[in-house]
Amino acid sequence: MSSQESLIEAAIRAREHARAPFSQFKVGAAIEDETGRVFTGCNIENATYGLTLCAERVAVFKAISEGASRFKHIAVVADTEALTPPCGACRQILWEFCGDAALTLANLAGRAETISLKEIFPRPFDASFLFRD
Ligand code: THU
Repeated sequence: MSSQESLIEAAIRAREHARAPFSQFKVGAAIEDETGRVFTGCNIENATYGLTLCAERVAVFKAISEGASRFKHIAVVADTEALTPPCGACRQILWEFCGDAALTLANLAGRAETISLKEIFPRPFDASFLFRD
């Protein structure tokens, strides 16, 4: 199994833990750091709706809290025919912590596509704007 396939598998397994009683829309994510460690996340909804966390952010924050810092590949899995991309908030967070990492979007039917984050987040705001003279 390629490392991309195992990252997708990890995201599929994480998706099974999703708490999505309001949307019924389950998402799994897996992120691989530069040393090959894999961290996973699922979406976790809240009755207030606005406190819902997407799978991607759960995976990134778990990874950072475990001491990972440089990431090379993220996989996102949902049960949709058109492959589900990260929401706008997650694109900002992924850019902040992963930069232009590879992003694999996959579904449960075995379809997958790998793009770079920059392709779907082409003109990001980031710390480079804060520290210019
Ligand atoms: N969601 C994710 O977890 N990741 C995405 O890429 C898109 C949306 C979640 C948030 C919410 O729990 C549900 O999917 C419906 O928006």
